[in-house]
Amino acid sequence: MTSLVITPGRPLRGTTTVPGDKSLTHRAIILTALAEGTSTISGYCQGEDCLNTMRAFQTLGIPIRQTPTELAVCGKGFWGLSEPNAPIDCGNSGTGIRLLTGLLSGQDFFSVLTGDESIRRRPMGRVVKPLREMGAVIGGRKGGELAPLAITGSGLRGIEYTSAVASAQIKSSILLAGLFAQGKTRYREPSLSRDHTERMFQFFGIPLTREEGVLVLQGRPSIGWRGVQITISGDFSAAAFFIVGATIVQGSDIVIRNVGMNPTRIGLIEVMRKMGADIQVLGQREEAGEPVGDLRVRSAPLKGVTIGPDLIPKTIDEFPVLCVAAAVADGDTVISGAEELRVKESDRIATMSGELKAMGALIEERPDGMIIKGLGRGGENGRLKAASNAQSHGDHRVAMSLAIGGLTAEQPMTIADTGCVDTSFPNFEGSLAQLLAGSV
Ligand code: S3P
Repeated sequence: MTSLVITPGRPLRGTTTVPGDKSLTHRAIILTALAEGTSTISGYCQGEDCLNTMRAFQTLGIPIRQTPTELAVCGKGFWGLSEPNAPIDCGNSGTGIRLLTGLLSGQDFFSVLTGDESIRRRPMGRVVKPLREMGAVIGGRKGGELAPLAITGSGLRGIEYTSAVASAQIKSSILLAGLFAQGKTRYREPSLSRDHTERMFQFFGIPLTREEGVLVLQGRPSIGWRGVQITISGDFSAAAFFIVGATIVQGSDIVIRNVGMNPTRIGLIEVMRKMGADIQVLGQREEAGEPVGDLRVRSAPLKGVTIGPDLIPKTIDEFPVLCVAAAVADGDTVISGAEELRVKESDRIATMSGELKAMGALIEERPDGMIIKGLGRGGENGRLKAASNAQSHGDHRVAMSLAIGGLTAEQPMTIADTGCVDTSFPNFEGSLAQLLAGSV
């Protein structure tokens, strides 16, 4: 089993980049597979989650050529997917399995979707239920609540659906099913979740409108879309580890180039700035309908903050590393309305509370969040200590967050079971080592 050794004592310095955005890469593969002709996806995320989505489309009859920097996808048009002759393994990816469930529900063939042990524990009813309302025929464990899911493709009809959860995976699953449904699909969510699908639909020319907060999609568009050249920006959620690392390790000063700055993703910047972080956004531009920028981050003393439900959707994947920032800040950080964290790759409220407590943090777990009593004093950041038995719990973001926390300790720390880091950030260890060597 792979482990990661963190040797603290040096600041983070220099310039770096992060892997291509995972959310965008999944969506780009899906929409280019349905396009007519060849597309190239540059700067794609090489994490296992996206490679599993790539393999899924190869199994669905789409030729995809892979180089280290680019995917060439030979799209076969709107109805061009074909029946897979084996179950599709989505690995650890909630985005992969939920988006594919929506897409495959409206095809005219049978398919089975499954994933690793974590995926087979995560709730699928949140997409299966509305998809069944659209006419989808989906079987699965616990009545379709759990994967594996068996999908007998069928003729779907558009629905009007109001989701109880602000979730881009649910939204995207329903929109992908809605593309293949007869009539219009209307989708409403309690607050805006990441809007990559909406932006990418627009980039491909797929007509999707927003009418008073409701997304409206006409199914079975009369004209398809052509292959494109699309460049994927760096993943803000990957950059988040270095943003927090550079902030909490004294003497740090880094630039992260080419980071996606979609406003529905960058709640961490807002929260960290409230805590006192020194984060500058340089040179904003646009790439494939998504804002992109370079970030300069210098170390700064942090103070505790209150994070309520309004900030949760745009910070959702950053909570593990935000807990690390809060643990060393001066004062209390109160997180509420974050119960969604319990159904991620791990129960992130439980795993981060447990692991950070073992590193000396003072944390009270709540059903929908936590209270973190920061170790900082007198306006200075505190330090965590090296835990003797740090565990990732198979969750890539927990693994990387603990690594960042370990940078504030006095002793080196080993984190067990870190192979999962490869799901989103294959060269995390190397990139961090370069920043610590100040040589990038
Ligand atoms: C994602 C949506 C979010 C996020 C996940 C990626 C996406 O999940 O946590 O890492 O690409 O649509 P939810 O939709 O469950 O909030």
